[in-house]
Amino acid sequence: MDLSIDLYQRYLQHFANTPGWFYLQSAAIWDTLLSYQEASNNIGNILEIGVFQGKSAGMLALHRQGEETCVFVDPAPLHEVRQRIEQAVPGAKCEYMQEMSQFLPRHSFVRDAARDFRWIHIDGEHSAQAVSNDLALAEMLLSDRGILVLDDSTSAATDRSPPPASSSCQPRRTPPARTHGARRRAATWKARRG
Ligand SMILES: C[S@@+](CC[C@H](N)C(=O)[O-])C[C@H]1O[C@@H](n2cnc3c(N)ncnc32)[C@H](O)[C@@H]1O
Repeated sequence: MDLSIDLYQRYLQHFANTPGWFYLQSAAIWDTLLSYQEASNNIGNILEIGVFQGKSAGMLALHRQGEETCVFVDPAPLHEVRQRIEQAVPGAKCEYMQEMSQFLPRHSFVRDAARDFRWIHIDGEHSAQAVSNDLALAEMLLSDRGILVLDDSTSAATDRSPPPASSSCQPRRTPPARTHGARRRAATWKARRG
C-alpha cells in the first residue's frame, strides 16, 4: 500500500502558517489515516464542526476525492476560510455552513447523507451539552468504517456541570495543549460510487 506524503507536503506549503489549533503532529497522523482510508477504498463525505481559520479543514480539503463533499460548520463567517482553501485546493467540493452545530439536524443532509461520512471532526463548542449533541449527530452520519476525531475531549469545559453562558469556544489567543485525536443535490451529499 502506497501512503505517499505528497499531500502532507502540500498541507505544509499552504496551511502550516494558518492560525489555529492543529499541531503538525496531528496533521501527520490525520494525513496517514486519511490516506489509509483512500487506499482501502473507504469513500464518504467529510465533516468538521468548528473550523476557525481552516487549519485542520485544509488537510481535509486536500484529502477529499471524487464525489465526496467536505462540510465545514462554524457560526463565524467562513469567507476567508473558503478563499484560503480554494486557493490551495482549486475545485474542491466544499460546503461552508455558517451555523451552530446544534442546529444541523434541521438540515436535510443529516437525513439524506446518514452513514455517508468517512471522517467527522468535532472541534466546536466544548461544553458537555454541545459535545453530547455533536456526538449524537456523528452517530447518525458516520459510516461503518468512518473515523470520529474528538478535540479536547478531556478539557475542563467538558465536565458534566451545566455550561456557563460564556463557555462557547471562541477563538483563543494562545493554542492550548491538545490531548490527542458527492455530489450535491439541494442539501444532499451522496459520496458513494455508482
Ligand atoms: C478551537 S476552534 C476550532 C479550531 C480549528 N479546527 C483549527 O484547526 O484551528 C473552535 C471553533 O468552534 C466554533 N464554534 C463555537 N461554537 C460552535 C458551535 N455551536 N457549532 C459549531 N462551531 C462552533 C468557534 O467559532 C471556533 O471557530
